[in-house]
Amino acid sequence: MAENQNQSQHGMWSSGALFVLAAVGSAVGLGNIWKFPYITGENGGGAFLLVYLICICLIGFPVMMAEIMLGREGRMSPINSVLKLARENNRSPNWSLIGWAGTIGGIIILSFYAVIAGWITYYVWRLFSGEFVGQDAEAIGSAFGSFLASPWQVFLWFTLFMAVTIYVVARGVNKGLELAIRICMPLIFVLLIVLLIYGIAQGGFWEGFKFMFQVDFSKLKLNSLLVAMGHAFFTLSIGMGAIMAYGAYMPQAQSVKSAVGIIVIVDTVVALVAGLAIFSIVFADGLAPDQSVGLLFATAPVAFADLPFGSIFGGLFFLFVAFAAFTSAISLTEPALAYFVERYNVSRVKVAVSIGAITWVLGLGSVLSFNLLSGFKPLFGWTIFDFLDKITTWFFLPLGGLAIVVFVGYFLPRKKVWSVLEINTTWARNTWAALICVVGPIAIGLVFVLTIVEHIPALHFLIPFLVSNG
Ligand code: PFF
Repeated sequence: MAENQNQSQHGMWSSGALFVLAAVGSAVGLGNIWKFPYITGENGGGAFLLVYLICICLIGFPVMMAEIMLGREGRMSPINSVLKLARENNRSPNWSLIGWAGTIGGIIILSFYAVIAGWITYYVWRLFSGEFVGQDAEAIGSAFGSFLASPWQVFLWFTLFMAVTIYVVARGVNKGLELAIRICMPLIFVLLIVLLIYGIAQGGFWEGFKFMFQVDFSKLKLNSLLVAMGHAFFTLSIGMGAIMAYGAYMPQAQSVKSAVGIIVIVDTVVALVAGLAIFSIVFADGLAPDQSVGLLFATAPVAFADLPFGSIFGGLFFLFVAFAAFTSAISLTEPALAYFVERYNVSRVKVAVSIGAITWVLGLGSVLSFNLLSGFKPLFGWTIFDFLDKITTWFFLPLGGLAIVVFVGYFLPRKKVWSVLEINTTWARNTWAALICVVGPIAIGLVFVLTIVEHIPALHFLIPFLVSNG
């Protein structure tokens, strides 16, 4: 147990700004660069953006404030922070399940996130080497197909990414996480700007802009609401303890409110700018925006292969994505790492290696989902990769988020919460109460139920409007 309320036994971020940067690093990742541009284009551009921004403001913002507050007040791993606050307020110790969900969810997410990040790392070298120059879309697409078909290659890059991640987290909060963040974050921002300028210079900007922002309400389905909210959780890294764990190392003087404001704005701006850069480049080459995996690994390399200095900028593009994925990955182990260090009083290195080994074994299922086990779909036609992705996005994140708002909204003393979060005016207090006690639980609960029903065909009769529109 932490002896001092203002310190964590695991270390502290050197400043409030570093906490913000670390949280931005966790938030900005594959979700922003790979998923966001695509789901925006497909769900009605500007119309979807509007729904997404509403989700971010009404749900993402208060959930993140609540989560960071739990970490900062507990100063321990998410499991023990919530347990401590529950005990202090005479609440059931079972609330620590919030921390457990995040701890297990983080390891599951990392197991498949690192597989995709491994592909990205491989593509950094592929692009820089100039291998694709002069090749057509078919050749580049089939090169990606044959890479995925080779379990050894996918395994190798996944293992490499995992090893670097574990090495860094094992070094501790200051010498590991913070150092990586200090190096990677400036590079991420610089590369993003460079890529945007490159995209604009190629002449596809307006088409990209239209694809992402043209308001088309006819494409906005009810299903888009589910997509928008699920993504709000994923992209902000909330609902699963990663941000809570980071919050435990946050200096007492840093205001939670303003930190969350900056994190949310930067995460959203990066997603928008990354989308504009990617689509500008894709449209500049006259290509059609592909879906999810294809956009990054088949379409973008084709555009880079055709455009001037494509190998260099293509390599830089994947480097940017790799850094962004890395600063997210290192946050995923922290809830589990901190907990096991506290529980067994063993060294961080030992715990990191053990967690790395468990995650690595779990990740093998995702590695094989694209080749040897691609036909193994025991449930709902999902591969192991799909299964791990969906149980975390659909169960762990929303349920974690729901439990957090209910715990903070109904089971912690409101005056204390207001004072910690510096919510001082009557207007702000009423808004906070409305969001955390009413809007949050209802919206998250509803979306959770609808998502489950939508994906179980036998229950479709309950929501015919959703299914027919979606
Ligand atoms: N926010 C990251 C992204 O957008 O890629 C993913 C993520 C990281 C989710 C950490 C959850 C988390 F705890």
